[in-house]
Amino acid sequence: SMRIGILTGGGDCPGLNAVIRGATRAAEVTYDSTVIGFRNAWRGVMDNDYELLDVDRCRGILPLGGTILGTSRDQPFAHENGLKLVRKAYDRHGLDAIIGVGGEGSMSVVSRLHQEGFPVIGVPKTIDNDISLTEMTFGFQTAVQICTDAIDRLHTTAESHHRVLVVEVMGRHVGHIAIWSGLAGGAAITLVPEEPFDVEEVCARIVDRHKKGRFATIVVVAEGATPKEGTMEIPAPEIDKYGHQILGGIGSILAREIQGRTGIESRMTALGHIQRGGSPVAFDRVLGTRFGVAAVEAAIDSDWGQMVALINGQIGRVPVADAVGTLKVVEPDLLRLNRMFQPRIPGDEHPG
Ligand code: F6P
Repeated sequence: SMRIGILTGGGDCPGLNAVIRGATRAAEVTYDSTVIGFRNAWRGVMDNDYELLDVDRCRGILPLGGTILGTSRDQPFAHENGLKLVRKAYDRHGLDAIIGVGGEGSMSVVSRLHQEGFPVIGVPKTIDNDISLTEMTFGFQTAVQICTDAIDRLHTTAESHHRVLVVEVMGRHVGHIAIWSGLAGGAAITLVPEEPFDVEEVCARIVDRHKKGRFATIVVVAEGATPKEGTMEIPAPEIDKYGHQILGGIGSILAREIQGRTGIESRMTALGHIQRGGSPVAFDRVLGTRFGVAAVEAAIDSDWGQMVALINGQIGRVPVADAVGTLKVVEPDLLRLNRMFQPRIPGDEHPG
């Protein structure tokens, strides 16, 4: 029997509630243990903002998007007395462990807390699917499905108007969402951070397509995609009167460039936080549940400093320290497929 804290940090993600429910059920039903949910990530640990979780509290949350515990990007190492407050939380609640569910940033916090001697377990979370040493994270398949549905819809309007439609999807550092939804939605061109693009070449492919009578083109671009050095000027982001940049990512810059350079009417759709909202697909509910249960079992085994992971379709554990520092980029075979399927222009090498 243990007392286990749990928190969700970083951007929200469909499937977080499945993790919370899975962990709570495993703890209460199987291991006769208690789960304390801290609100808004490490903020709640430091402020003692929490609720007791049990099977009843978790009833009905499986299909819900977001996280019933709330989230934030706050963390103990950003505060002078942060570690002291974390220690206080362990003492006050008699905690045997804290399970930290979060992205790469949160996993490095878990890793550092482990180094400081705290009993912690990590659960990887990101719609971007960019955490190392786990094949997949929950939320990713949901995001891909949302993008694919959007691309399906954009096809018919692109066809009707003979337009280029640029779709900007999430992926700050990597192109997993872009590649998967580009392939699933049959985008003509997909641009990802892994391979900087040449806008002239993108335009040449679109123009060539036009010459062959294909007047509608879907271009998927990951928000983190960048042009090759010296091929295209990126205007400074528009900062509003409040000092924020809300609009104007690579999608709109690219749509303007394509229309300007080719004369073909172009529009941009940024899918934004729609990709993170709403109900998780079945795969993400199952993966979230498996991760939640596995995290509790790692705690029961006192296997501190581990991150649960999907490895060859099985749930395993890896040292969280090994999972941070480098991001998981798109696999070479998917990048090759992406190059193979884009409109061909003279001079293209055989993509062998
Ligand atoms: O890391 C997930 C992610 O969805 C990124 O793709 C995106 O850049 C970022 O979060 C945006 O998050 P927020 O608007 O919450 O800062």
